[in-house]
Amino acid sequence: MSETDPRAEYQALVQEIEEHRFHYEAQDAPLISDAEYDALFRRLEALEQEHPEFVTPESPTQTVGRTRVETGFAEAKHLVRMMSLDNAFSEADVRAWLARLGGESMPPVVVEPKFDGLSLSVTYEDGVLTRGVTRGDGTTGEDVTANVRTIVTVPHRLQGDVPRLVEIRGEVVLPVADFEAINERRLADGEAPYANPRNTAAGSLRQKDPKETAKRPLTMTAYALGAFDGGDVAEPATQMELYALLSGWGFQVTDRALLCTAPEQILEQLEGLEQARHSLPFEIDGAVLKVDDRREQQRLGSTSRAPRWAVAYKFPPEEVHTTLEDIRVDVGRTGRVTPYGVMTPVKVAGSTVTYATLHNAYEVARKGVLIGDTVVLRKAGDVIPEIVGPVVAVRTGDEREWTMPAECPSCGTALAEQKEGDRDLRCPNAQFCPAQIVDRIAFIGARGALDVEVLGEKAALALVESGVLPNEAGLFDLTEDDLRRVPLFVLDKDSKVRGVERKAGDISANGAKLLENLAAARSQPLWRVLVSLSIRHVGPTASRALAAAFGSMDAIRAASHDELVAVDGVGPVIAESVAEWFTMPWHAEIVERWAAAGVRMEDERDETAPQTLAGLTIVATGSLEGFTRDGVKEAIIGHGGKAASSVSSKTDYVVVGAGAGSKAAKAEQLGVPMLTEEQFVTLLQEGPAAL
Ligand code: IVH
Repeated sequence: MSETDPRAEYQALVQEIEEHRFHYEAQDAPLISDAEYDALFRRLEALEQEHPEFVTPESPTQTVGRTRVETGFAEAKHLVRMMSLDNAFSEADVRAWLARLGGESMPPVVVEPKFDGLSLSVTYEDGVLTRGVTRGDGTTGEDVTANVRTIVTVPHRLQGDVPRLVEIRGEVVLPVADFEAINERRLADGEAPYANPRNTAAGSLRQKDPKETAKRPLTMTAYALGAFDGGDVAEPATQMELYALLSGWGFQVTDRALLCTAPEQILEQLEGLEQARHSLPFEIDGAVLKVDDRREQQRLGSTSRAPRWAVAYKFPPEEVHTTLEDIRVDVGRTGRVTPYGVMTPVKVAGSTVTYATLHNAYEVARKGVLIGDTVVLRKAGDVIPEIVGPVVAVRTGDEREWTMPAECPSCGTALAEQKEGDRDLRCPNAQFCPAQIVDRIAFIGARGALDVEVLGEKAALALVESGVLPNEAGLFDLTEDDLRRVPLFVLDKDSKVRGVERKAGDISANGAKLLENLAAARSQPLWRVLVSLSIRHVGPTASRALAAAFGSMDAIRAASHDELVAVDGVGPVIAESVAEWFTMPWHAEIVERWAAAGVRMEDERDETAPQTLAGLTIVATGSLEGFTRDGVKEAIIGHGGKAASSVSSKTDYVVVGAGAGSKAAKAEQLGVPMLTEEQFVTLLQEGPAAL
């Protein structure tokens, strides 16, 4: 038998799929991602199509779940078999399924979320809950009745008119918020977090002790009928009627089921559900399409594995498996040394991912990942990709532990905590560490800082490596002569730069652009200058607040701790960081050299503004019609006043806008005069005498 013998491949594949079913369904700990499983399954289907003679009744394509294994629960037979669903992965698959339904035009189809949990069948006799059974192989499942009784969305007694006997099928899930809360608690207790809500829900339902299940806020959403002996209760005629019936009995049903009568409407709903994916309380991994008319469902019937009247449309996966090839560290602009994973590139949620941050050594240890591990990588929508953890069961023994370096990979300085107990390590050599200098310089060019096009990582590295720019202090002194010593900005052959002939060795168009952009950046507003200094904790929000409150770099530098903390949006941590930053002589030199090079260190004042507020401290609160939050402060400073954010006995006036709260109350209590917006404008124009 050769490697490519189709029968050998077929048998190996069947065995592989069986094994994965076991790990997923009996162990609640899959070895491969859902997407990888689906791919194996599709390969099996393709092989069977080519070789129908291979197919046996035991094939995974003909069966619903794993073959039975000893799990400790008693076995229970379903009265009506539980089915699985066939999958659709594309618009074409959906249209092909619709075509298979036959008929001139499509029948009405219900499109609803596909919950990512585990299916459960609950039996009621004369309205009383008598049994809860997992799907198992579809014919026989595990009797988990005692555990099911702890699920609040499974009524112990049906409400209203009840049938003689009914089996109700639904999906048991753990709501995302509860899953996150459980993990937070586990982390706080020093326990490893659970991988995802689905496996946690499955593990929770299959606890030996029902008291353990009761600790987990599992919920069931009901979506199908099994056996039905109605007595006085009529069988529902449609899927939508079934949901109304289930809801009336006291079950939770989805409120996202939509009855569609045209293919375009189905596709629109699929897109809508995919977009809503992260705003739903439960994880969903797709949508289920069901023919609405239950008589039509019967007519279409089922294969041994799945109904023909329903299909599961699977969204692109958000959790995939890949290999963690290496863990490296990055030295950031504030000296923070961050480990990150380098993975075999893998497609997840629409983009190819190679790197993911691991935050710090503590996180690496907590996740328990080793270099060489197969890891679960999760990227939910637009969220940053995250390494969830290793798939321990597939380790080969060749994986190796990673250790956090003790020294900075860029400058060799011993790494240290900023303060005791910090989880992050930093390179304390802020002044001379090349990695930090390059990152700081590149950051100056960032859109949220001084927004200097051309000044990115590559340019910053070239400027530093060539020795032209030892650190950011000289950035605004750069000349054409300087750039001629930076290979990245030098022409290697004669060429025209914006219509002007330039010779090899002269600066390139990009070099010229860099100088122009730097010149323009000199007149950016003060807050952007502040951001670009890379003062720890001082981002755009704090910078705007500081600039609005003080108006100039000198005033910020001279401000006391109390004055800094009094600014809205500036807490003690930021205040301390700002004050400390200015105490370093090399920092002061950056500011001085930038100022000498013409970088704006003071926000433009209306020189003609009358200094009507000289000596006055004013607080504005609530929202004003003619001013933004920062605008009020700018107006106060522009007219010579001081803009404070908390009311004290030193406050001269409080400007009260709409929705003002505690500050107005405080003013009242302290007897500080309060002004309307109109009075404030008068004050600005004419001074306190006019009030
Ligand atoms: S209907 C006979 N509706 O997906 C068809 N199933 O991959 C019964 N599932 O075994 C299933 N959400 O465990 C149905 N809204 C939904 C569902 C759903 C999740 C599960 C169910 C099924 C599996 C197939």
